[in-house]
Amino acid sequence: MSDEHVLYWSPALSVGNADLDAQHIILLEIGRDMIELLDHGGAAQPRLWSLLNDFFVIANHHDALEEKVLAANGYPSLPEHRAEHVRAREHIHTALCEAAEQRLNQGRLRQALMNWMHHHLSEMDLNAKPFLRHHEHQPEAALAC
Ligand SMILES: [Fe+2]
Ligand SMILES: [Fe+2]
Repeated sequence: MSDEHVLYWSPALSVGNADLDAQHIILLEIGRDMIELLDHGGAAQPRLWSLLNDFFVIANHHDALEEKVLAANGYPSLPEHRAEHVRAREHIHTALCEAAEQRLNQGRLRQALMNWMHHHLSEMDLNAKPFLRHHEHQPEAALAC
């Protein structure tokens, strides 16, 4: 799929973890809503700032959970993945500050959202899929009969 098009969630994007999939679906929806506003003259609307805020808050929570699961499953590229999370959140944080000061760089925000859809979610997270399953704790030995 071209990077020019917004992305819709499908089972092909599942990382095999229901909590993380649910968060990806929400982030994708918010990202698409923001691009819709950007593409149709709605960049100055309070709704865009509200969506940016939601995306930032949910992404913070999501990234932390994802990193926790990756760490528990021994993902070898965790430092690079974590750095990508930080970079992506910095783009959203910058856009939040710009929007608050009514000087939003719309092109840069659009590119950051497309990059999150087409690079981070579709490539990086899917590549880590074997390490994104729920980390199963070993049963307590004291429970043995
Ligand atoms: Fe990720
Ligand atoms: Fe993710």
